[in-house]
Amino acid sequence: MMSFYRFPDHFWWGSASSAAQSEGAAHEAGKADTVWDYWYRQQPHRFFNAVGPEKTSDFYHRFEEDIALLKQLGHNSFRTSISWARLIPDGVGEVNQQAVQFYRELIHQLKSAGIEPFICLYHFDMPWAMQQLGGWENRAVVDAYVRYAQVCFDLFGEQVSHWFTFNEPIVPVEQGYLYDAHYPNVVDFKRAVQVAYHTMLAHARVVNEYHQRQLTGQIGIILNLTPSYPRSEHPADVKAARIADLLFNRSFLDPAVLGQYPQELAQWIQDHDLQPITEPDDTAMLALGKVDLLGVNYYQPRRVKARLSAVNPEGPMMPEWFFEPYEMPGRKMNPYRGWEIYEKGIYDILTNLRQNYGNIPCYISENGMGVENEERFMVDGEVQDDYRIDFIRGHLMWLHKALEEGANCLGYHLWTFIDCWSWTNAYKNRYGYVALDLATQQRRLKKSGHWIAQVSAEHGFQVEDHQ
Ligand code: BG6
Repeated sequence: MMSFYRFPDHFWWGSASSAAQSEGAAHEAGKADTVWDYWYRQQPHRFFNAVGPEKTSDFYHRFEEDIALLKQLGHNSFRTSISWARLIPDGVGEVNQQAVQFYRELIHQLKSAGIEPFICLYHFDMPWAMQQLGGWENRAVVDAYVRYAQVCFDLFGEQVSHWFTFNEPIVPVEQGYLYDAHYPNVVDFKRAVQVAYHTMLAHARVVNEYHQRQLTGQIGIILNLTPSYPRSEHPADVKAARIADLLFNRSFLDPAVLGQYPQELAQWIQDHDLQPITEPDDTAMLALGKVDLLGVNYYQPRRVKARLSAVNPEGPMMPEWFFEPYEMPGRKMNPYRGWEIYEKGIYDILTNLRQNYGNIPCYISENGMGVENEERFMVDGEVQDDYRIDFIRGHLMWLHKALEEGANCLGYHLWTFIDCWSWTNAYKNRYGYVALDLATQQRRLKKSGHWIAQVSAEHGFQVEDHQ
């Protein structure tokens, strides 16, 4: 017996990318350095195979060719970001007209191809000029970001109907201020909290700014939601999962959707003496930051257990003082990336949003499977990525179940369109529907690319019932 999983007619089929990861032309056409350009020059060894962000898949020059590929994939929507350092090179001053022309043309061409542009304002790419002021630690950078967003709305607000303030705002916080994986490589929980707080304030101010303009579109945020599953029902395990959930999910989800921080998180921050510096009007402003649309990035679950080993009280305080990662026996793995695959997580997230967050309109803004050395799966020039098709189909089946139960999920975007440069991992893990040969810049649809085109055309797919 076969079943057909049918998705709504206007479901968003697409994929996501970002400026720094695709544009290249890092030192061209008036663009200034981001933290990535700067850091790469200082410490190229931090990047896989020492590949930096200067070239990537050269979207800046090849976007027309790439839009034709998006069309071939059956996309009706596509997310990328605007590079702040390209549009306003010093962060605060003059607008770079070459950048205006580029983004205007990009948006125009996407729309002409019937592909709705989803535009994010910030995807990990702090202009170097702004980082020199202290980045998100400095409230002046919040002001500069608001002005940058205003410029974007002035320039492209009539053409773009789906805006996002931030992609995965927790990532620069945890990777840059706790785990030494992004610049500025600080390890300091209190500073991390300040950065997170200012990011959310910047978000709220920009949402408010957008709403005041009464444009016809929507504004949202993209969050990487990682369901926290306790090892067992033991109260200590449950508590560990709850803290992980507070720190990594609710720290951004609650203010973005409900307009306020969870009381429990505020208390926890206070108990650990981590309070950020705030101003009296901030609470009212945060309340205005409620989004119209939520993007959900989901890759893997977070399984935790109560901490058993003692922490070093002299070491820097870390989230892992309060829980330990738990490796569930028999878990299904993506062996190439070392991440667990748990398709039901997507259903759990959508159910949580339905039950506890007013069933906010949302879509899956990233989901995907990174694989190293994909050339080994190449047959007659095409990567036979059946594992990726299985991965996507498995997640879509759970998404479908959530839809049947009333989830307000409007689409599914894969990370990513074409194999992309991925921060310090550079080109290590390949995620695309389209394979990129970095040396020749040749692009080729993978098997999954042909498959998704068919899914999009038929509004779903068929599976054998025992699957
Ligand atoms: C997502 C980010 O979290 O993960 C992307 O939004 C990133 O920017 C992607 O490229 C994949 O990351 P990695 O480390 O597996 O290459």
